[in-house]
Amino acid sequence: MGVNMGITVRELLRLKGKRRITAITAYDYVSALLAEAVGFDVVLVGDSAAMVVHGYDNTLPIGMDEMRLHVRAVARVVKNPLLVADMPFMSYQPSEEEAIRNAGEFLKLGAEAVKVEGGREIAPLIAKLVSYGIPVMAHLGMNPQKFRVYGGYRLQGRDKEELLRDALAVQDAGAFAVVLEKVPSESARYITENLRIPTIGIGAGPHTDGQILVFHDVLGLIPGLEFKFVRRYLDGFGLMKEALERFKRDVLEGDFPSEKESF
Ligand code: KIV
Repeated sequence: MGVNMGITVRELLRLKGKRRITAITAYDYVSALLAEAVGFDVVLVGDSAAMVVHGYDNTLPIGMDEMRLHVRAVARVVKNPLLVADMPFMSYQPSEEEAIRNAGEFLKLGAEAVKVEGGREIAPLIAKLVSYGIPVMAHLGMNPQKFRVYGGYRLQGRDKEELLRDALAVQDAGAFAVVLEKVPSESARYITENLRIPTIGIGAGPHTDGQILVFHDVLGLIPGLEFKFVRRYLDGFGLMKEALERFKRDVLEGDFPSEKESF
């Protein structure tokens, strides 16, 4: 009897060139409920959790302990989208053994694939993970875990041939998709046209096979955070603040709870 696995890595490969791939990040029960209800193709438990959930100003501080909790919470909900867990900084760089153990743990917790940042330097690790049954999404262009080396979150991938060498290396190693972050549109188009596997862009223009954004950015949950490549669909912070102010006022004025809201 067939098992309904939802979106698989094979399905994503099949979608390339047929229709655009939709992806969003999620970190907890509510964001996962929303991602599932909308029906995204891919849900990424991103290490961006460090910034948008835990309030750090970069992604380096988050580790396996926090990411485990996020992956568990999201995996309880997400059924149809492909669930990808982001490998946090220093969970895969120190040794192959550590990388395999940590990636394997995410799969045991319910993730269906992991994401790692890097190109040629990480291709042998990608091949190893895939050979042990762990599907890998690669991440090229601006790698947030390398922001100290760049000296900020600078545009990368201006040299499209160089970027293609990395993209081909991760594809040949067995990655099933590649995130392209903060690269010129023209470079993203070139990579997309020259890969068999789908590209998923963030700040990479309109020519990638799919798009991903951070949940909190799309919904405007963090005041003052604005990026050129983000489209904000809601002033979530403003709307929630207004609702909480109304609750507070109702309490102060003795308007809550009413008879109907009491036993
Ligand atoms: O951590 C994250 O949310 C990501 C996406 C922005 C691609 O890596």
